[in-house]
Formats: sequence, structure tokens, C-alpha cells
Amino acid sequence: MVFDTTLRDGEQSPGVRLSLDDKLEIGRQLAAMGVDIIEAGFPISSPGDFLSVQTLAREIKGVTICGLTRARDGDIEAAAEALKPAERRRIHTGLGVSDNHLQHKLKMTRDQALEVGIRAVKKAREYTDDIEYFMEDSGRADLDYVYRVVEGVIRAGATVINVPDTTGFTYPNEYYHLIKGIIENVPNSDQAVFSCHCHNDLGMATANTLAGVMAGARQVEVTMNGIGERAGNTALEEVVMALHVRQDKFNVTTGIQTQQLLPASRLVSRLTGMVVQRNKAIVGANAYAHSSGIHQDGVLKERSTYEIIDPTLVGAEKSEIILTARSGRHGLKFRLAELGYNFEPARFEEIYTEFCRVADTKSEVTESDLRSIVA
Ligand code: KIV
Ligand code: ZN
Repeated sequence: MVFDTTLRDGEQSPGVRLSLDDKLEIGRQLAAMGVDIIEAGFPISSPGDFLSVQTLAREIKGVTICGLTRARDGDIEAAAEALKPAERRRIHTGLGVSDNHLQHKLKMTRDQALEVGIRAVKKAREYTDDIEYFMEDSGRADLDYVYRVVEGVIRAGATVINVPDTTGFTYPNEYYHLIKGIIENVPNSDQAVFSCHCHNDLGMATANTLAGVMAGARQVEVTMNGIGERAGNTALEEVVMALHVRQDKFNVTTGIQTQQLLPASRLVSRLTGMVVQRNKAIVGANAYAHSSGIHQDGVLKERSTYEIIDPTLVGAEKSEIILTARSGRHGLKFRLAELGYNFEPARFEEIYTEFCRVADTKSEVTESDLRSIVA
């Protein structure tokens, strides 16, 4: 299951503010792309967020709409109200489980927090039987306490257990054992789906999420382009394509229409104003571009020498041969042929010499440079 939180955790990116129309446009694209659950917002947090969740619940069909709450009655009531028009609705509630969060933020003992969490699940069950429980800061929590919380909230009616690495602290082997440990040690773990929710503070969000899937998690919580608090969340496009390309190892599939990944990435980038770095995996401008002579020669002979993803699979037009000072004859010949030129060897050598001279003066030799070199 792909649980997209671009409109909730993603919108928490510093400097991002999406209007209701923006959220609807993104929500429609996510639904068309095939995500299973859209976390549309945090209804109690502001009237605007309430309205967004309510509007998406009314307008977007064929997908579960989810609202976030703290483990408080007022939050849960607001989420239930906002989610009323949804075809399928989920309440996502919970609270912290690490001693750090319990002592400094919640000022509760472990037992008190567990009791509050169980009450929240029971309250949420009054409105829907699709309840996800988040254990904030699981990545730094005591394992025995995590097991107790999971057992208690499943017994109270939670159907999905979210195991967030809220601070992006864990590394893949550790996150794998966190999920595996829960599944193996909690007696009623077979009654819930486990969900990976990883932040990217150490650049390991995607790797941790995939490790969680290896350990048996069957939901991933992701955002387009990996946007989110601080260094962001796990990038949807990275997890989806890793599961696709390495199906031999993961043995699971998603319902994502991969050709929609690039359009979705561009839409989210445009509406949030968050630029996608050129070398970003899957959706960056350079992801299917080759500039060195050795690589260009390889891909022109056989694409798979340097590409593990056919760019058309993610909605890109084609691989690109970018001419730079590192390019060689094969790349130059290919780009000239694209422009309709085909020279006999001696003339080509002259053009190649001139190309090398120009290439040394700039970062990229463009189509118009090529035309003037030929002229
Ligand atoms: O990172 C986190 O712990 C969260 C929860 C609120 C689910 O975003
Ligand atoms: Zn988060």
C-alpha cells in the first residue's frame, strides 16, 4: 500500500503553503497515479486544513482519504467530521513512544501515554474501522515499550501501525530489526498492517523504508520528491521504482502508474516552489542524461550498460546525450545525426576538433552551438 503524505507531512516543509485548489490538483494527480491512501491534512490544526480534508474527501474518489490527529478527543472529532464525505476514510492518531518525547514533550509516563493512546483508538473507532496508530519517534524508543504499545493499540482496534523514524535517526539494518522485532514479538501482530514512515535527516529515508518492507511492512508513507519537515520524508518515486526495478528481491508490487511519476513530481515542484535537484533519483533533470564519452558510447551501443530504468517508464521522453568537454566522437555523431547531419570521416574529424575547442569553453555544447560549429 502506498500512503502519500505530500499534502500533510510534505506541506510541513518550511516555506511551503498550498492553497485549497493546489491541494485538489495534487490530490487528483495522486489518485490518478494510483496511491492507495492520501493523507490530506491535519483537520484540527486550522480551518483551512479542515476545509482541505473535507473537500478532498468529497471530491476525490477511489482512494482512502486520511486525516491526522493527536490522541485527543477534539482532534478525532474534527477529523471524523472532515472525513465524513469520503468514500473510504481513515483516522491517523497516536503519540510519542520514545523516552525523549514522553519526558520533554508529552510529560507523561510510559503507562500514561499508553492509556491515552488506547483511549484515542477506541474513540476513533466510533467513526471508522480504518484506524492507523502512529508511534512517534519509534526509531529512538525502547523496544519492549514499543511492543507493549503495539499490542495494546491493536487490541483496542488499530488496523495499521505506523512506525515512524521521526528524526531520521535509524540506519537500514536497525529499522529492519525494529519492524521485524515488532512482527515477531507482538502476539497479535498478525491483526495489523505495519507501515514505514521515515525521515531523511541522515539521507537514509528510502533505504530505511525499503528495509522495513524487507522485514514485512506492507505500507510505505511517502511524499512526492521527498518533501517534508527538515530534510524531508521518503520520496514516493524512489521507493516505487526500487520496488519495481528490484522486484526480484522485494517480491511486492504497488498499484502506481509509473508513467505518472514525472508529471506528479513536476506538479508538486511547481505548486510548492520546491525545486527538484538536477541529480535527484528518478525525477531529476539529469537522471537519464549522459555526458561523458565512455558512458555515451555505452548507452548508444546498448541502453542498459548505464541505465537501469527506461526513462519512458517514469514519464520522461527519452535518455539524453549531453555534449560536454568529456563527450567523445560517438556522442557527437549521435547528436549531429539527430539534427540531420551525416558527414564523411574527414569532415567529421574537422567538426570534432572544433567541437572540442568549443566544449572547453562552456559547461554544455548546445544545439545552436552545434549548428554554428557545422556552419
Ligand atoms: O514523523 C512522524 O512521526 C509523523 C507522525 C505524526 C506520523 O509525521
Ligand atoms: Zn513525519
